[in-house]
Amino acid sequence: MKLIESIDIDNISYQRLTTFLKSKTGLNFQYYNKSFIEKRIKSRMIRVYCKTLDEYYSYLSSNTEEIKNFVEGFTINYTFFFRDYDVFETFQDIFLHGLGVNKKHIKSNIRPTAAKLAKFSSKSNAAKKLMKNRRLYTKPEKYYVDIFIFLNRLSFYEKIKLLPSEKNCINIWSCPCATGEEPYSINMIMNNLKTQVRRFPKYRIVGSDISHEAIKKANIAIYPDDSMKEISDYYKNKYFTIQETHYGHNNLIKESLKKEIEFVREDVTEGHSKPYKYDIIFCRYLLIYFNHKNRDEFLKILESRLNENGILILGKTETLFDSWGSLQLIDSRNRIYIKSQSKLF
Ligand SMILES: C[S@@+](CC[C@H](N)C(=O)[O-])C[C@H]1O[C@@H](n2cnc3c(N)ncnc32)[C@H](O)[C@@H]1O
Repeated sequence: MKLIESIDIDNISYQRLTTFLKSKTGLNFQYYNKSFIEKRIKSRMIRVYCKTLDEYYSYLSSNTEEIKNFVEGFTINYTFFFRDYDVFETFQDIFLHGLGVNKKHIKSNIRPTAAKLAKFSSKSNAAKKLMKNRRLYTKPEKYYVDIFIFLNRLSFYEKIKLLPSEKNCINIWSCPCATGEEPYSINMIMNNLKTQVRRFPKYRIVGSDISHEAIKKANIAIYPDDSMKEISDYYKNKYFTIQETHYGHNNLIKESLKKEIEFVREDVTEGHSKPYKYDIIFCRYLLIYFNHKNRDEFLKILESRLNENGILILGKTETLFDSWGSLQLIDSRNRIYIKSQSKLF
C-alpha cells in the first residue's frame, strides 16, 4: 500500500483537479489551507488505489459517486453535544448576565461528572481537563491566576447587554453546525432557562453547514452514544429518549427542541442565505481549515452578521487574534469576542 507521505502533488495537476471539483460541486477550495485539501486528496487516492494525481483525476472525472465521496470526506463533521462544556457554561453565564438574571437562582447542570467522561475514554480531553482543574486548587499560585481570570471576566460581563435584536427576538447562529449537536446543545440551555426565567425573550437558532449528509442527520436528530460523551445526565435525562435497536440503542432528541432551530445547507464562504443579524454566533472549528487571507474574508462575513454588542464564540484551539476590526477578545480561555465599535480595554 502507498504511504500518504510518498504521494507527490504537483501544482498543475492540483489546480486542474480543484478547478474541476469547483465546477462540479461549487466548493470554494481557495478558502482552505492547501495542506488540508492535499491530505483529503491523498486519502481518497489511497482509498481508490490511484498512484498518481493524474490517475485520480481520470477516475474522479468519470465517476460521479467519487465526486460525492470526495465532498463528504472533505467535510469533517466531527462534533458532539456540549463539546468543550465549559464554553457552554460561559455562554449560559453571559446570557443570564445579559438578561440581568442572577445565576444562583437557576437550576442547570452542564458539567458532566468525571466518572461519565472517563467511561467514554480514559484519555478523553475533557476528563483530563476535569482532573487538572481539581489539582489546580491545590496549588496556590494557580488559584490566584483563576481569581484574576474571574475578575477579568466580571469586568467584561459588565459591558454585555444582550438586547434582543429584532421584534424582541434573540438570534443565534451555529456556523458550522455539522450534524446538529451544537445547536441542539444551545437549545437545551435556552429551553431549560426559559422555564425558570420570567419574561424570557423569544429566540431563534440557525444551524448551517456545507454537508448535505450532516444537515439531513441534524434534521432527523437521532444520535449514537459517541455524540453523548460530554453531556451531563441532567440534560440527557431532560431532552432525550432512548430508542432500542437490534444493534444497541440510539438517543433521540425530544420533538419540543426542534421547533426553534432552522437548519440550512450552504457554503458559508459564499455568504449566509438567511436575512438575520445575530446576537450570538458560534463559529467553532471551521476557521482552522481556512488559509490566512480567506479567513479574513470570512471574518468580514461574520462581523457583518453580528449586531453591535453581539458575541462571537470561536473554537478553543482557534487562537487567532486579540482584536479584529470591531471584534474584541473578552475571554481568552474560551475564545469569545464581542463586537463593539468603541475600544473596550
Ligand atoms: C469539525 S465540524 C465543527 C462542528 C461544530 N461547530 C463543533 O464545534 O462541534 C466542521 C464543520 O464545518 C463544515 N464546513 C466546512 N467547510 C464549510 C463551508 N465552507 N461552509 C459551511 N460549512 C463548512 C463541515 O462540513 C463540518 O461539518
